[in-house]
Amino acid sequence: TTDPVTLMKQEVGKAAAARVKSDSIVGLGTGSTTAFAIQYIGERLASGELKNIVGVPTSFQAEVLAKKYNIPLTTLDAIDHIDVAIDGADEVDPQKNLIKGGGAAHTREKVVDSLAQEFIVVVDGGKLVDKLGSTFLLPVEVIPMAVTPVMRKLEDLGGKPDLRMGIKKAGPVVTDQGNLVIDVKFDNIPNPASLEAEINNIPGVLENGLFVGVADVVLVGEIVDGKPHIR
Ligand code: A5P
Repeated sequence: TTDPVTLMKQEVGKAAAARVKSDSIVGLGTGSTTAFAIQYIGERLASGELKNIVGVPTSFQAEVLAKKYNIPLTTLDAIDHIDVAIDGADEVDPQKNLIKGGGAAHTREKVVDSLAQEFIVVVDGGKLVDKLGSTFLLPVEVIPMAVTPVMRKLEDLGGKPDLRMGIKKAGPVVTDQGNLVIDVKFDNIPNPASLEAEINNIPGVLENGLFVGVADVVLVGEIVDGKPHIR
């Protein structure tokens, strides 16, 4: 590929995969950037450079990719820690707080990423914002029978909620857990930690896409002088 955004994603995914060490348990994130990290972890395993890795997938997508690249998988019931998680994000602020859930996978992602001793975020430079909520809608996973009252509560919190609809499907997007996703427009989010807690306090909400104080490292892919570059 020569598309600059794809090249950035590829380089940043590779850089994250290079940080994975042998004999470790790895959280495998969701999205097109992490997909490159999963691919390179698989290639390092196949070449023998990496040994004894098990992955914990954050979504059906991550599970399918891990199987494609022959990465052994486990579940949270079979392990007592995660060494490192690699995952993408939809927005990243200067404090390394995130909005996630563009792929409707944020609930499982938050479980896995927050368990990891080191959580590495992989993004292209276009994801960096001063204030969360300035460009991306905040995803909220909700159990289907509670959609209408949850939407009203989200309006009370100052948001403009919209039920996420499928692109190649008639009807709403259904998550890997069988729930629905409400995308909420907040013009900007002054206090991500309190909004995260307030939304999760609404009965019927499973999890929202604010990740506050979870990320340890943010790898950013950029194009400098026409070439991909990581910082
Ligand atoms: C999935 O729910 C999201 O949290 C993804 O991690 C996010 O959308 C990043 O995806 P891309 O790397 O494809 O932008």
